[in-house]
Amino acid sequence: MAVKQMLGALALSGLMVSGSVARCADTELFGYMESMRDNLQVITRNVRGGNLDAIEQEATAFAQAVEAATQEVPYALSNGSSADLEDYQNVIGDLYAAARSLEDAVLAGDQATATAALNEMSQIRRTGHGRFKARSC
Ligand code: HEM
Repeated sequence: MAVKQMLGALALSGLMVSGSVARCADTELFGYMESMRDNLQVITRNVRGGNLDAIEQEATAFAQAVEAATQEVPYALSNGSSADLEDYQNVIGDLYAAARSLEDAVLAGDQATATAALNEMSQIRRTGHGRFKARSC
């Protein structure tokens, strides 16, 4: 094999191992975030309306998507951002704790605690996007 081809194959396998992608919208994390957004729309509407028993599945699915997001690396962190992975893990960990508290409150039919968890999550989302979401995203 010519040296150039060998280098090409090596670069490609390196890319596959690191899971690098060309655009922020192509990350696994982006997909989890979109599911979170979709779940949260349904959850918020029903918490406001006091229909907690209608959203037990969504509350669990939401917490699972956040849990999956804890295992990912934001696009910006592999593409020149000075933010660090440990910091990301702390903030997404806070979101995970709030998501579990939301799930518990939904299962218990506790509207006040569910509302408090939703409010806390809005704040964590603002922090997370401010620090870790690429401008191009
Ligand atoms: C309830 C909380 C959250 C929701 C509903 C949410 C939703 C979303 C959505 C819909 C996107 C796609 C781009 C867009 O439309 O803006 C996105 C992207 C992203 N979010 Fe979130 N987000 C939340 C919290 C967080 C937190 C806490 C962090 C960080 C700790 C975070 C980090 C990111 C990153 C890094 C991207 C870009 C994808 C990537 O870089 O791979 N998000 N989010």
